[in-house]
Amino acid sequence: MNEVVKSLVTRKSCKDYKPEHISREEIDEIVKAGLNAPSGMNKQTPIFVVVQDDETVAKLSKMNAAVVNMPMDPFYGAKDLIIVLAKKDCTYIYDGSLAMGNLMNAAWAMDIDSRWIHRAKEVFESEEGKAFLQKWGITDDVEGIGFCILGHANEEKEKTEILPNRVFYV
Ligand SMILES: Cc1cc2nc3c(=O)[nH]c(=O)nc-3n(C[C@H](O)[C@H](O)[C@H](O)COP(=O)(O)O)c2cc1C
Repeated sequence: MNEVVKSLVTRKSCKDYKPEHISREEIDEIVKAGLNAPSGMNKQTPIFVVVQDDETVAKLSKMNAAVVNMPMDPFYGAKDLIIVLAKKDCTYIYDGSLAMGNLMNAAWAMDIDSRWIHRAKEVFESEEGKAFLQKWGITDDVEGIGFCILGHANEEKEKTEILPNRVFYV
């Protein structure tokens, strides 16, 4: 099997992370994959926010959990994350989702574990979330797409079962 395809079909998401950071160089490579995701009409709507600062990760975890009154850390102990936001134009939700896919697939290809954590929309619609955007200098009209948490697994992960009857040859 082609090496890239092998990487795509073996990817798994992780729910338990070691308490160490990944490096800035690794993050930059993963972000590059996100930046190169296709977008509708090449509008390149996705925006990436790299967060490696422990205090900010902890704060964002609390804000994310608050959306659904979750009693646990929704980031599963991950120390690094890339937030994908997208400028509200054209196919931005699809663009942002594809960028999230690129991030997770690039991470996996680099032996780094990841997971899409949802509720970015709600987090960045909140007053606290808007204050973060302002602090980070993001002035465009954006919507939160997802949090791509990153790190190294502290667990033996199982590959999810691929459900049958989802492909039609005509
Ligand atoms: C749109 C989307 C939203 C997701 N939101 C969450 C989430 O909030 N929390 C979580 O633990 N996993 C979340 N996931 C991860 C999925 O649960 C995971 O990808 C799925 O179980 C399949 O497992 P795999 O990635 O190992 O193939 C999300 C995935 C997607 C694509």
